[in-house]
Amino acid sequence: MPPRTSEPAAALRPLLPSPLQPLEDDRFSRYGVRLLLKRDDLIHPDLPGNKWRKLAPNLRAAAGRPVLTFGGAYSNHLRATAAAGRLLGFRTIGVVRGDELATRPLNPSLTRCAADGMRLLFVDRTTYRAKDDPEVLSRILEQAATDDVYVVPEGGSNALAATGCSELGRELRGLTDVAAVACGTGGTLAGLAAGLDDGQRAVGFPVLRGGFLAGTVRTLQDEAFGGPVGDWSLDGRFHFGGYARTTPELDRFAADFRARHGLPVEGVYVAKLLYGLVELTAEGAFAPGTTVAAVVTGHEDGSSPAGAG
Ligand SMILES: Cc1ncc(COP(=O)(O)O)c(C=O)c1O
Repeated sequence: MPPRTSEPAAALRPLLPSPLQPLEDDRFSRYGVRLLLKRDDLIHPDLPGNKWRKLAPNLRAAAGRPVLTFGGAYSNHLRATAAAGRLLGFRTIGVVRGDELATRPLNPSLTRCAADGMRLLFVDRTTYRAKDDPEVLSRILEQAATDDVYVVPEGGSNALAATGCSELGRELRGLTDVAAVACGTGGTLAGLAAGLDDGQRAVGFPVLRGGFLAGTVRTLQDEAFGGPVGDWSLDGRFHFGGYARTTPELDRFAADFRARHGLPVEGVYVAKLLYGLVELTAEGAFAPGTTVAAVVTGHEDGSSPAGAG
């Protein structure tokens, strides 16, 4: 059993600040735009990217208590939480969307969670949707039958997570004009924008459809920083049909990016971010001389739904 600790950085030695790499790509350079990759995917093999940045402050707050959190059948966040539990020696409970999954063989992602010691609790979709309702949550906690549990919301995005992600913005101070990131629950963007300096701006690319994200980012910033901070915007055109959806065009783009740069492109988030940046650059959204840092928030690990959608 690994040592119990409430200081994850001491035990896991993340690669921080994450590397910032220039990338020569004529789809940017022909418009006078300099592209940098902020390699958050290299922070830790089991807690890459925003997983580390969001979880570390929450694990500190949990101080060794069991951690209960939520996710879908392919959730990167569930996998990262389970891995953190194994590495740091605390118990984890994953509440998984879809009670029909309880009777099926576990997919590779959930198999990894279970192998890391995560207890999986499958709940029906109606309950899952209502999990932020205190009554529904207390029923879930009863089902989990674990005292003194620390609850982390879906996607790991809460005020502490946004605070953790503000470090990403601080690492980019003085180094870029624009910082771009793919968004799911909005916690990474909320923190990134807060950490940047005056004159720098953040742009987020939602991978889900729906247009609800701006409100979520504002709420997270209120909770984490006491009000709106930083210059940020969203470009909602590049969701490619929604979460984990793709198109042949996006798949070709990701394969071509890998071939050009030798960089495997995570398909659910990072491919949509890079595609969006190529499009925005061609539209003239960035004046010549602009530096744009694309945050690589995760890496391909083969557990995502192949060609989902
Ligand atoms: C690889 C990757 N990139 C980006 C995101 C989006 O982060 P957020 O949910 O904070 O918007 C996620 C989800 O957590 C992710 O797994």
